[in-house]
Amino acid sequence: MRSFPLFLKLQGRPVLLAGNGDAAAAKLRLLAAAGARVRVFAESPSAELRAAIHDLGVSWNAATVTSEDLRHVELVIGAHGNSNGDDEAADVALSELARGVGRLVNIVARPDLSDFTMPAIVDRGDIVVAISTHGASPVLAQRVRAAIESVLPPALGRLARFAQRFRSAIQARIDDNPSRRRFWDQVLSGPIGQAVLAGDERRAARDLIRAVNRHEPKAETGHVTLVGAGPGDPELLTLRAARALREADVIVYDKLVDPTVLDFARRDARRIYVGKSKGDHTLPQPEINALLIAEAKAGRHVVRLKGGDPFVFGRGGEEMDALAAAQVRVDVVPGITAATGCAAYAGFPLTHRDHASSVTFVSGHSRDGLAKDGIAELDWQSLANNRQTIVVYMGLGVAGEIASKLIGAGLSPATPVAIIENGTRWDQRVVKGELSHVGALVRDHGIAAPSLLVIGEVTRAAEAGVRAELKAVAE
Ligand SMILES: C[S@@+](CC[C@H](N)C(=O)[O-])C[C@H]1O[C@@H](n2cnc3c(N)ncnc32)[C@H](O)[C@@H]1O
Repeated sequence: MRSFPLFLKLQGRPVLLAGNGDAAAAKLRLLAAAGARVRVFAESPSAELRAAIHDLGVSWNAATVTSEDLRHVELVIGAHGNSNGDDEAADVALSELARGVGRLVNIVARPDLSDFTMPAIVDRGDIVVAISTHGASPVLAQRVRAAIESVLPPALGRLARFAQRFRSAIQARIDDNPSRRRFWDQVLSGPIGQAVLAGDERRAARDLIRAVNRHEPKAETGHVTLVGAGPGDPELLTLRAARALREADVIVYDKLVDPTVLDFARRDARRIYVGKSKGDHTLPQPEINALLIAEAKAGRHVVRLKGGDPFVFGRGGEEMDALAAAQVRVDVVPGITAATGCAAYAGFPLTHRDHASSVTFVSGHSRDGLAKDGIAELDWQSLANNRQTIVVYMGLGVAGEIASKLIGAGLSPATPVAIIENGTRWDQRVVKGELSHVGALVRDHGIAAPSLLVIGEVTRAAEAGVRAELKAVAE
């Protein structure tokens, strides 16, 4: 985080604003709306600024700002540069002066001269969303603002005021934090919240009082949700996964989970990293099981967050069995597995009516150790049947050996393959070639984990599509 977001109470506090044009006028109106006592310094105010000064009845000074003027102000804002496009020197001088006497300063459109920047805001009364790009792109901030505006109901502020009205009463009635949070969650997302948004606060208040009076302070029973986080791109998270993350008290996560996925969790949720990638078992599986059971039995909602889908080479089944044996309630939120995510982002299908009528997911290594030659025991003969796609998970270190086995079982050495490294992530790499060269492809391109090996005619599809397009253009 390059700067610290906070909301400042400015009611009645002195702020100095210097500048002549429309940008100064806009800042003046904003500061006045927050209740600040603004002193304006403008040598030749524009019509817009004069109008704002007049409408708001603020004091105005035509002199240049001196350090004496800064003695009793709490914030300094400079907006010269934007007024006529070339009065930068005044902004630079103001920034130096303010910093010299230890005042926080913002110069409009000059993050380099500023200690703080002013965010784009979505204003819903008591709910205010502030968006910052650290001055990198105000246009981008406005686009994000517009996107947020479109999803937040206009009456959201009313809902915040309603919650505020009953906050201490509910706190007194439900003193345990997690239960209270769940109570509010149900209230705000259910019919009571809907009634407030629809303007029927009387009904909402009556139903809220009934709900709190019915609330039983029973001992919370914890549970575990096994959640698939998808292969990397956080946009591939399901809506249910995002909700489970928001509701979790504890999140136990693997190495393959992209860190941005954790941003969906509440800030106060405890995050426990348990590592777990090939050759890097931060916590052995029995200890992970014991941890999940202990946290759930302590009454917490535990999210066990796994890369891809929990039930595809994710040991979800083992964890579910252990939880069931310990009589801990468990539910599962499926995720997009690496095979489907990587194929889609690499631009080829896994089945195709012309090339592959089935797809098989295999693991390059197995639970009970490896076969003598270092790879998992698989039915090579049936894998070598044509017209199928083979997706190898955890096969990077044994890609060459897998190819030899398949060729030995009769699959053509010229079968096309694709290796997808960091699939669906911003740094995804796709390397294509033939089955007989797969070991060399891994070595020569320095492919690293996590990577998926896809074997079959389908991997040619995107290339064929592009070739056909190029041919059409050339003709
Ligand atoms: C322990 S398995 C977990 C699979 C996961 N449960 C799933 O459904 O995708 C780990 C293997 O999945 C594959 N994998 C997972 N995420 C990947 C990604 N973003 N890109 C390429 N391969 C990935 C790699 O083969 C990696 O070795």
